[in-house]
This record gives sequence, C-alpha cells and structure tokens, in this order.
Amino acid sequence: MLRSWVIITALLAVLWACSEEKKGIEKTLKEPQTEAELGELLFFDSLLSKNNQVSCASCHKPQYAFADNVAFSFGVDSTAGLRNTPSAMNLSGHSFFFHDGRAESLEQQASGPMENPIEMNMKVSDIVEKLNKHSQYSRFFRKIYGRPADKENLVKALAAYEETLLTSHTAFDDYMSDKDTTRFSESAKRGRIIFNEKAKCFDCHFGPDFTGDQFRNIGLFNGRDLNDSGRIAITHEPKDLGKFKVPGLRNVSVTGPYMHNGMFKTLREVIDYYDTPDKFVSHAQNRDTLLSKPLHLTEQDKTDLESFLKSLTDDRFLK
Ligand code: HEC
Ligand code: HEC
Repeated sequence: MLRSWVIITALLAVLWACSEEKKGIEKTLKEPQTEAELGELLFFDSLLSKNNQVSCASCHKPQYAFADNVAFSFGVDSTAGLRNTPSAMNLSGHSFFFHDGRAESLEQQASGPMENPIEMNMKVSDIVEKLNKHSQYSRFFRKIYGRPADKENLVKALAAYEETLLTSHTAFDDYMSDKDTTRFSESAKRGRIIFNEKAKCFDCHFGPDFTGDQFRNIGLFNGRDLNDSGRIAITHEPKDLGKFKVPGLRNVSVTGPYMHNGMFKTLREVIDYYDTPDKFVSHAQNRDTLLSKPLHLTEQDKTDLESFLKSLTDDRFLK
C-alpha cells in the first residue's frame, strides 16, 4: 500500500515537472561570452521548434559529425524528411548550402529548417518572440548584440557557431603537413593516388574540404524510382537536371548513409557504385561523362580508396 503511494506520488511529480517545462519554466543555461557560444546554445535548443520538439542537433548529431545516421531524419510530430541530413561541419568559406544549393550563406540557410513544416515548423518571427519572452535568452541577446533577439541576429548567432565546426586533426592532414607521417597507412597512400587519378574522384571532390562547391550529376536521377531532380528546381536550367552539390568528404566515415537520398549505407557501397553505376541505377538522366565508363577498380583499389576516405576522419570521431 505504502509502496504504491510512493510510486503514484513519484509519477505525479514527474507529470508536474513535465507540465512546468511546457509552461516554460526555464532550465539554467550557460552564460555565453561570444556570438558563437550563443549560437551553440540555440543550435541545441528545441525552443526553436513547434511545441519544443526538435533542435538543430536532433538531426545534425555531434557524434556523427553533425549529420544523422539514418537516411531521413525526423522533424516535428515525427515526420520524416525528404532528403538525407548532411554534416553541418566544415562549411566555413563555402558558397552554397543544401543539396541543391538554394541558400548562399549560412545565415540564409538557417531560417530554412526553422520554417520548414516537416523540420521545426515555426515562423522565425514566432521564435524571436519566444526568445524575447525567455528571461535568459533575452538577456543574452542584449549582452551579445546590444539589442533584443530579431531574425537577423538569430541566424547570425547560429551561423557564427557553425563557422567554428571545423575539423583538421586527421591522419591525412598530419601526413600532408609532415607533422606525423606514420598514421597515414600504405593503403591510404595508395588510395589517395587512386582517388586523384584512376577513379577520377578528385575531378569533383577537390580543395581543402574535397568539394569545389560545384553541382554535378552522378546519375541518381532517372525520373522513375529516383525522382529528386536537384539543382534544376532552383535554376530552371535543363543542364542542371539531376545535379546536386558536391559534398565535402571530411569525416565521411561517420556520416553515412550517403547521398541526398541516403541510398548507400556504407562507403564500400558508394565506391562500388562509382565503379559500375549502371549496375545500381538504370536509365540515369543527364549523368556526368566522368561516369560514363566503368572504372575497373580491383578489390585492392576499393579497399585502398576506403582507407583514404577513412583517413579524413577527425581524431575526435575515432573510436
Ligand atoms: C528535421 C531534421 C533537421 C533539423 C531539425 C535541422 N536540419 Fe539542417 N538539414 C537537414 C536536412 C535534411 C538538410 C538537407 C536539406 C536539403 O538539402 O534540401 C539540412 C541542411 C542543413 C545545412 C546545409 C549543409 C550543406 O552541406 O549544405 C545546414 C548548415 C543546416 N542544415 C543547419 C541547420 C540548423 C542551423 C538547424 C537549426 C536551426 C537545422 N539545420 C535543423 C535536416 C535538419
Ligand atoms: C562527377 C563528379 C563526381 C565524381 C567524379 C565523384 N563524385 Fe562523389 N559526389 C559527387 C556528388 C554531386 C555527390 C552528391 C550526390 C548526391 O547527394 O546525390 C557526391 C557524393 C559522394 C559521397 C557521399 C557523401 C555524403 O556525405 O553523402 C561520397 C562518399 C563520394 N561522393 C565519394 C566519391 C569517390 C570516392 C569518388 C571516386 C570514386 C567520387 N566521389 C567521384 C560528385 C562526384
């Protein structure tokens, strides 16, 4: 009898706590000293979504290099998205965001998910209102920007945080800078040469983050079962049919599943695809001529390419 009372009281306490949280009793936040620290608080706060259900980090999970480990992440009311969540790391200095490049700055990008009905589903103006009613955030915004939260400083803070998400502590970077050449295996060394030459990866994945910010078509649109037409929906130019932003490849070993639609689970599958695209997708439309012939990679080549891709993983993600 006494035990059931204890259980009932405990349950009531939990219910009460939950309802207080809904009513907006605030948890104590770490006082931000910089714009980026304010952005970090916001990035991890579900206050930015309808009914406080999801935060940016619900989909861009830190342990997967700020990507997700499922093909399609869930937004508010458990609705699945239409595209795979890309990594939000190493985006500083780049010129296009989203798989179709529809945003041209991180600031412009940030309001996308907040207002997207299947992601966070809340008008930026309503989020701003929520922030200004919040005793701590309203103080933090005044402290950092000298004025209340508004659309402009909200996206600026988020972008400032994302600018800090850079990773260059990798076996590859150590090897290139002569800091430590022992961690970059023989297999990764061979893989690097295959990446640059035989497999032609470097023709599209180049620059410090392995993307030149171009849009290319690797054959994942056929107008049948693969229906996302990519860049053409933004530019309306026929040449852009089926093109997607070339993603950077840093930390790619922890950001699977891969591609805009998450259709490949592992790096090996991605490599198998590039080797013989026609075996995976028939009737591809407007595919890049770089992929018109099979690469004829050997099993060893594939293993080496995979070792190279894994060498781009930041130390913090190595188990
Ligand atoms: C429901 C899951 C979800 C939530 C929540 C979410 N995102 Fe995303 N994010 C995605 C998906 C999916 C894409 C790709 C969409 C597309 O290309 O059309 C994306 C794309 C991005 C990109 C572009 C990356 C690139 O390589 O171009 C950035 C940056 C980003 N999100 C930051 C944020 C921020 C900041 C928030 C919070 C305000 C947020 N995301 C909330 C799923 C999510
Ligand atoms: C013609 C340009 C081109 C070539 C050549 C190319 N890629 Fe890509 N790569 C892309 C594009 C574009 C995407 C994004 C496609 C999408 O999202 O549907 C991509 C996506 C990827 C991804 C998935 C990344 C992610 O986060 O989902 C990996 C891994 C990858 N490429 C590795 C390689 C390797 C390894 C090679 C060489 C065997 C290669 N690429 C050759 C343009 C290219």
